[in-house]
Order: sequence, then C-alpha cells, then structure tokens
Amino acid sequence: MSGPVTAGGAPDHASLPVTGPTLVTSRHRPFAHIVSVEGGQALAAFDTRGSLSGLSDDERIEIGSIVTITTPSSHIIGVVTGLSVPMGSYEVGEDATRLMELDLVGEIVGNIADRSFKRGVSLLPALGDAVARASHQDLELIYSARRKPAVTIGSLYQDADIPAAVMIDDLLGKHFAVVGSTGAGKSCGVAAILHAIIGQYPESRIVVLDVHNEYSAAFRGQAEMISPANLQLPFWLLSFDELASVFTTFDEHQAEDIEILHDAVLYAKKRYVDATTGRQSQILKRSTEGTSTSTISVDAPSPFRLQDVAGYIDEQLGQLERTQSLVSLRRMKIRIDTLTTDVRYAFMFGSITIQDKMAEILSRIFRIPSAGKPVTIIDLSAVPSEILNVVISVICRMAFDLGVWSKGQLPITLICEEAHRYAPTDQAAGFEPTRRSLARIAKEGRKYGISLGVITQRPAELDATLLSQCSTIFAHRLSNESDQRVVRSRSADCAVSLLDFLSSLGDGEAIAVGQGVAMPMRIRFTRLPLDKQPASQSAQFSKFWVSQGMGLDDVEKVVARWRYNRRDED
Ligand SMILES: Nc1ncnc2c1ncn2[C@@H]1O[C@H](COP(=O)(O)OP(=O)(O)O)[C@@H](O)[C@H]1O
Ligand SMILES: [Mg+2]
Repeated sequence: MSGPVTAGGAPDHASLPVTGPTLVTSRHRPFAHIVSVEGGQALAAFDTRGSLSGLSDDERIEIGSIVTITTPSSHIIGVVTGLSVPMGSYEVGEDATRLMELDLVGEIVGNIADRSFKRGVSLLPALGDAVARASHQDLELIYSARRKPAVTIGSLYQDADIPAAVMIDDLLGKHFAVVGSTGAGKSCGVAAILHAIIGQYPESRIVVLDVHNEYSAAFRGQAEMISPANLQLPFWLLSFDELASVFTTFDEHQAEDIEILHDAVLYAKKRYVDATTGRQSQILKRSTEGTSTSTISVDAPSPFRLQDVAGYIDEQLGQLERTQSLVSLRRMKIRIDTLTTDVRYAFMFGSITIQDKMAEILSRIFRIPSAGKPVTIIDLSAVPSEILNVVISVICRMAFDLGVWSKGQLPITLICEEAHRYAPTDQAAGFEPTRRSLARIAKEGRKYGISLGVITQRPAELDATLLSQCSTIFAHRLSNESDQRVVRSRSADCAVSLLDFLSSLGDGEAIAVGQGVAMPMRIRFTRLPLDKQPASQSAQFSKFWVSQGMGLDDVEKVVARWRYNRRDED
C-alpha cells in the first residue's frame, strides 16, 4: 500500500490491509482528522475516544467508503483506500492509533440551496480538517449524475438506497471493460448493464460476441439470435489479410502461398464483375457506375466465386512453365477443397451460389431496423477455433466500416466476451487482423459511434492498448496479482488504489472507475432474476451424478452432434 508520508514524523506503520468490516465509527459526526496530505491523497487518524462497539453495519468504515472532509470553502470527497494500525500500537485496544488512507476524488461546493459536485479537488485539505462519513444526501448528490443521460446498473455498496448510475454516452462512447476472475459476476454484470440500457433506450444497437453461448438465456424475446446454423457470413466479406490467414499456414512457404492467393482472388473478383455486370440491383448499379474491373481491390468486400479461385490454381498447375511453386499451388487447392466440404465451415464457405447480400447481412447483424430486438447475440461457441478469430475480425471490421460509411448515425456497441482469447498481449499468439480490427475501434471508434465492451478474466493477457483505451472499468474480484497490477496501471482514474482490494470483493460486486461513473465507486450490480442471467458456465456434477443419465443411444446422439457440428439439437 503506498500511503502518503505522515506529517510530523509519525511512526512507520505496518499496513494491515483489512478486507471485511473493520473500524467502526459514528456517522455524519466527524470521527477522524487529517494528519497528512500529499498530492491527491491524504491520511487521517481516527479519534478513538468513546466506544467503537455497538454501532450498526452502515456506520462502519471500510475500503471503498466515502467520506467528506470539511474545509472553509468546500466539502472534499474522499474514498477510503487503506485502513491500518501503526506498528507497535495495535495491542493497546481502543486507544490505538487507527489510520485511514484516502484518495481525494472531488468536492461539493455551493450553499445549501444550490450545491453541486465536481470531480477533482481545487483546494486540498489542511492538517486537522475534520473527516466525517458522507451523508445520504451527499451521496445522492454525488451519484445522481443529473446533468447527463444515465442508467442505473445497481446500488452503492455503502448505501444500498443510492442507485449506482452510469453515464451512458461516456460509458459507451469511450469504451468500457469488465474484468474479474471466473465466477465473480462479469457476465451477470454485463447483462445488468445491457438490461438497464435497453430498458431505457429501446432503439439501442448492441452486438454480443458470445463465445460460450451464455447470453441467449438472458435476453429471450429481446435479442436476435445468430449462430452459424442460421447465418451465412460469406467468405468474400473477408479482407485479404483474413483470407490469407484462413487459406495459408504460417511456415516457410507462406509468402509464396499469399502471392498465389492474391493473384487468384483478384482474378476471381474480376471474373465475377465481368459475369454479373448488368445483373446488379439498381441501387448498387448506380453506386458502382464507373467501376471497371481494373479498379477492383483485393481487399474490398465484393463477391467472388471459390470455383474461380480453384480454376485459376488449376490453370497454373497445368502450365508447363509456371513461376509459382508447385507445393504452394497444391496446398492451396487442398485447403480450398477442405473448406468447401467441411460442414463446420459451411456458414462461410458452403454456399455455391454467390449472391451479393451484404446489405441484408448488415441489416440482420446490426439490427437495422431493430424491430423490437435491440440486441444481437452471435453464438460463436460452435465456430471452429481456427476461424473464430476471422469471424470476430470480420464482424468488428464491418461494424467499424458501417460506422464510417454511415457517418456515425448508427451507434453500435460490440460486447467482446473473453477478449483475451482473440486479442492477446502476446503478439505471436494473436491473430493480427482481429487485433487490428479491435484496435481500430478502440482508437477511432468514438468518432463514428462504434464502441467496445471488453470482458476478460485475464487482463494481464489482454492486448495492452485495448484495455488502456477503455475509459470505464468495472473490476470484479480479481485474485491474480499480475492481473490486478495491469488493471491498476491501465486505469487513468485517480482512485486506482481502490483497485488494491480487488481480491476481497464478493460475487456481483465491483469497483467502477473512470469516465462513465460520477466518481469511483464500489457497487453491487442489480440482482438479476434467473431468466435475465446469462447461462452459468459451470457444469453441474452434483445434478448429473445422482441419477442414471445417458445410455448408449444418447452417446450416439452426442457423436452425431459432434460430427456434424449441430450443438443446438437435443
Ligand atoms: N448481478 C447478479 N445477479 C444475479 N446473480 C449473479 C449476479 N452476479 C453474479 N451472480 C451469480 O454468480 C454466478 C457467476 O456469475 P457470472 O456472471 O457467470 O461470472 P463470470 O462471468 O465472471 O464468470 C452466476 O451464475 C450467478 O449465480
Ligand atoms: Mg462469464
């Protein structure tokens, strides 16, 4: 714990981090005085006169408690970030010196009739200033966030009667992250945030990239459920980088493979345009007037046929004097065959007839119009892991481009569960196009109304730029030291020392810091009824191990599902 230096050479104190209810004090009356001020932090000593026992729960001072410090011109608001008893004095019972570390986060100014709260402290406290617990009215003023559109996502830990509100434009416009160990309540927290948003904004546009198929249970009737079984995401929507990652393998021949793929795709795209000119829809025709095959880009999401790609390769293979490597050509041919015949890839490579349905796909994924379903849940649990990254990359890229080309008039929030899996810190482990798509949204998305909600249980393994671009962080219980350190270092908020206590939070509890909240706060997310909770991921041993479950027939069914990749069937 990095406490400020005590004034007057107070004894070194051994920090005794306290995780549960601790030092008890009376409310509203000053119970401590400032003994040290340094930068945005202060240290206060408890007045230990009188009994410390017999007080009710809401009079305790704990980590995350909010206090006010009275100065001649304002009430400074502090968050308790540390509690300790200096070494050598903790045996002496109620007379012991008790210290409280505070982060100074804002101030209440004005007279009784017209008080307002602002973040930041213009006048620091002086030694001896009195510290009291913040009153209900103070808390209401701080957290009411009246000036900006806000939604309620839970309640304040300190005072359950005070709703915890997030300012929606700041929360979504500048990205948010939800971190915490498995089972700490991240998915439920996200569901609580989303339910609050769609309750108030029926025309929201939220796309959940659901890698474990958890969210469909939480948004029945309010969400469009998309899975590989019911959506075609044609391969021609892929950028060239994405195509290359699907069609080529990282080895010494990759450069040659990519060159062949480039020529083949360009050839196929030109052939498609030649073959279809005159058959386009009126709108597309008007917008493509003047386009000739010479201006076609290998990167543009324009349709082409895989048969033409295969045809190009066959032609090269048939030539006696070819410049390309035989190994690469043959590998490419095999890869195309595999992708077009494997059922698991059918949603991307299965369709033989190519139709330019890009507008239809966009309107379905991004809910335009929303038709009463503001949320899209894309179940990615059945997508083979080797193309999961590609699928996520395409969706993120389409969201971003839609934002750019619609000039920011279609704000979209993308919720990325398990983001460390497809945007990892380790550059070598990551898939470059996905990382790039996400980084582009993180850096430039706010201009175009495209925002990210990044969820991870391993913040230390998540791409560093992604986390540092998230202006609001909801930190659930986080036991791993390196993860805690990363969250602390990525958070720009002043009360980061609050995050020292991440290991002690209860389920469904979080510390919220950043621009989306009026002030750093320890919150309890709204308790969601079962039908609004994401399906739990934990397998239930106790349920299935008490009665005889499956027989051979059932195993046959499992095998069939496994083989044909039909997860939804029973
Ligand atoms: N806000 C909440 N409302 C209701 N139940 C919750 C809430 N937060 C956590 N829980 C409980 O905790 C369990 C784990 O939460 P979950 O969100 O799945 O954790 P995580 O996504 O972090 O692994 C849930 O199945 C639920 O029983
Ligand atoms: Mg989860």
